[in-house]
Amino acid sequence: MPTIRPARIRDIPAVTDIYNEAGVGTTASYALQPVTVADRQAWFERLTADEYPVLVMEDSDGLIVGYASYSQFRPLDGYRHTVEHSVYIREGRRDAGAGRMLMTALIDYARGRGVHVMVGVIDGANDASITFHERLGFEVVSRLPQVGRKFGRWLDVVFVTRIFEGNHPG
Ligand SMILES: CC(C)(COP(=O)(O)OP(=O)(O)OC[C@H]1O[C@@H](n2cnc3c(N)ncnc32)[C@H](O)[C@@H]1OP(=O)(O)O)[C@@H](O)C(=O)NCCC(=O)NCCS
Repeated sequence: MPTIRPARIRDIPAVTDIYNEAGVGTTASYALQPVTVADRQAWFERLTADEYPVLVMEDSDGLIVGYASYSQFRPLDGYRHTVEHSVYIREGRRDAGAGRMLMTALIDYARGRGVHVMVGVIDGANDASITFHERLGFEVVSRLPQVGRKFGRWLDVVFVTRIFEGNHPG
């Protein structure tokens, strides 16, 4: 049985590989260069210091299958109830329910922390991720044409949101 748990520092090399595989070689992320393990360690330490989650899925062989995380959507304090998440599943392990399990755990965590809105920022041609988010209750709310550039072409970004109406913090 796979398990979902908070990431530990020793998971970061696997998280780095998964991110670089999906994020650099495709338009799933607009990163142009691979990140290093040190970059991802700094990212992990920043998120966990601010009590933001980095969850991993580990299979019964101890392999990290994917991860999901979020942090504040934008820096100003007025955005403190809105988070932007990311979710990446290892190539070869997609379309088998891992993303749904991880996102369900991340959504539960967010709700438990009083998050009001989760935002996903998705490449406009990433139909898999857009459909995936719709299946998880997110709604496409806007499209920003040509804000990204990678592989010599302009890229549209799609924003998806899920609002937790019950969460009304002060
Ligand atoms: C997008 C991604 C996270 C989905 O994870 P996954 O483990 O493959 O998805 P699951 O198998 O859990 O599927 C969950 C739901 O999404 C749907 N879905 C997943 N991939 C899909 C695809 N390629 N096309 C259509 N629907 C898809 C499934 O049908 C499923 O629906 P259901 O559970 O209601 O039957 C994964 O493909 C991935 O990591 N892609 C590369 C990185 C990426 O694009 N990350 C998102 C950046 S915004």
